[in-house]
Amino acid sequence: MKKNYLDMTGKVAFVSGGSRGIGAAICHGLANEGATVVVSSRKIEGCQKVVDEIIAKGGKAVAKTCHAGKMDDIDRVFDEIEAEFGGVDILVNNGGTSPYYGPIADTELWAFDKTIEVNLRGPFFMSSRAVKQMQKRGGGTIVNVASINAIQPGDLQGIYSITKAALVNMTQSFAKEYGKDNIRVNALCPGFVDTDMTQVMKDNEEFMTNFIGKLPLARMGDPEDMVGAVLYMASDASKYTTGTTIVVDGGLYA
Ligand SMILES: NC(=O)c1ccc[n+]([C@@H]2O[C@H](COP(=O)([O-])OP(=O)(O)OC[C@H]3O[C@@H](n4cnc5c(N)ncnc54)[C@H](OP(=O)(O)O)[C@@H]3O)[C@@H](O)[C@H]2O)c1
Repeated sequence: MKKNYLDMTGKVAFVSGGSRGIGAAICHGLANEGATVVVSSRKIEGCQKVVDEIIAKGGKAVAKTCHAGKMDDIDRVFDEIEAEFGGVDILVNNGGTSPYYGPIADTELWAFDKTIEVNLRGPFFMSSRAVKQMQKRGGGTIVNVASINAIQPGDLQGIYSITKAALVNMTQSFAKEYGKDNIRVNALCPGFVDTDMTQVMKDNEEFMTNFIGKLPLARMGDPEDMVGAVLYMASDASKYTTGTTIVVDGGLYA
């Protein structure tokens, strides 16, 4: 009989930043493999739209607000997941922000704090809450959506790049401590993906021609291009893989 290594039937998955872009594509991918997906972001409307699309295709999903920078929101949403579903099996820390683009030495405190809170502190405490639930459930998987900026800082994206590098180290730290509990933790490093976050780049004709046009795959990634790697890391397909990163960048680093 054919074995489906990606099968997630009966699993509960929480995706932060699931309302659009890469996160929405990940929600659809997890639901297609049978997971019940908790689609989360700050605004309920975008999450509900993704939930409605999943349900229309015969999948299972619910929408929940959670601001990754607000500790009360994180506690509330994980309490709700435990009460409603018994806990989480798959956590995808995808929600992220890049509020400042400019010289690193001119980074203002508000931008520094916001980037740290959403890209690092939120994923840290969501992982901590998820691990406690996964321990009771006999295991689980965490996928942290970092960036190629974790490997080499992006131009004029200092504090953003720093949070993504820290997220990769956080991936290894959680992986080392909780492998014994059958909890695996890995990270995705996307290259340039066509989402709201990259609007500034899409508006720059010179960048699109000279940089994106010269990538080995000669185009920006689509959010859907990220899904295969996430499904691998979230499922039994990767059952001997932990503490690592997968780069999905159209060949940028080749
Ligand atoms: N696009 C790229 O080229 C690229 C490259 C490398 C890495 N990444 C990473 O991929 C992830 C997804 O990015 P994307 O390109 O898909 O961006 P996007 O289209 O702008 O989507 C961002 C998502 O995060 C949510 N979000 C923003 N701030 C939040 C907060 N404080 N708390 C909770 N959710 C929040 C947004 O929903 P709400 O507004 O409703 O909160 C939205 O669902 C991010 O971690 C990003 O750093 C993207």
